[in-house]
Amino acid sequence: MNITVVGSTNIDLVYTVPHIVKAGETLHSTEHELFFGGKGANQAVTASQLGANVEFIGNVGADDFGEQVKQNLQEKGVKTEAVQKIGLTGQAIIQVADSGENSIVLFPGANFLVTREQISAAKDKIEASDVLLLQLEIPIPVVEAAAEIAAQKGVHIILNPAPAQQISDSLLGKISILTPNETELEMLTGLKTNNEEDLIQACSLLIQKGVGAVVVTLGEKGSYYMNSNEHGYVQANKVEVKDTTGAGDAFNGALAVGLRQGKSLRESILYASKVAGFVVTQMGAQPPIPHSFRVNK
Ligand code: RIB
Ligand code: NA
Repeated sequence: MNITVVGSTNIDLVYTVPHIVKAGETLHSTEHELFFGGKGANQAVTASQLGANVEFIGNVGADDFGEQVKQNLQEKGVKTEAVQKIGLTGQAIIQVADSGENSIVLFPGANFLVTREQISAAKDKIEASDVLLLQLEIPIPVVEAAAEIAAQKGVHIILNPAPAQQISDSLLGKISILTPNETELEMLTGLKTNNEEDLIQACSLLIQKGVGAVVVTLGEKGSYYMNSNEHGYVQANKVEVKDTTGAGDAFNGALAVGLRQGKSLRESILYASKVAGFVVTQMGAQPPIPHSFRVNK
């Protein structure tokens, strides 16, 4: 099972705080840790630890952090032949409140220096994959270039449209599975997402635009999905939330693995929720990502 991730890498600077800092407020952080992060890297590490053969296409900084970020990917089994070192490593300054909520200031650094040429140079890797995983922490034209190559070859594309921003109908039309949260779904459709009726309308709009399936992640409420045959809620298990950072990324990485293992969309969502459930119980995006044997237990 070959999965290619085109996307971002970051160093996450995580500060534990009693509440998210307000404008003009100075707040003491009780704990501080550095973690490997970035939505692309988190997805790649998840898919790899769950047993997929994963190739990562993207950048790390030409600094000490960049070297560590690249090594971390390799240690987790992710192939890094198409990883370029340039500029400064991306940083996410993350506050995690006692409630488990977070807020993030993102410095994109090297992630905004990924180019379309870099994607063309790695065309073979995308074409040889079963699934292409994408997010929106690198320039949109680069995301579009990767999707174009995959779509030409009939490679399945999973796009996590995070962080929230507008994307073209032409990109939407190439996506096999789109995985927005409620905020992202509202931004993409201009519609509300307060109840099931709203969700049905918003998902239907995206399906009309050519998206194969929509899986809306709803946090502790689980998810809502729709494809051309069925739609409905999938519940998530109750877990103790410590830090939700990276839960969405793990969900996407696991969804890709589940589908490639031949699970149905609904079964894959259940599997992905279980994996994301592990991730919220510990600090950091990557340390809590399980290995396949833990999920299957
Ligand atoms: O989705 C979580 C990730 O978003 C973090 O690891 C951080 O790097 C930000 O990019
Ligand atoms: Na976490």
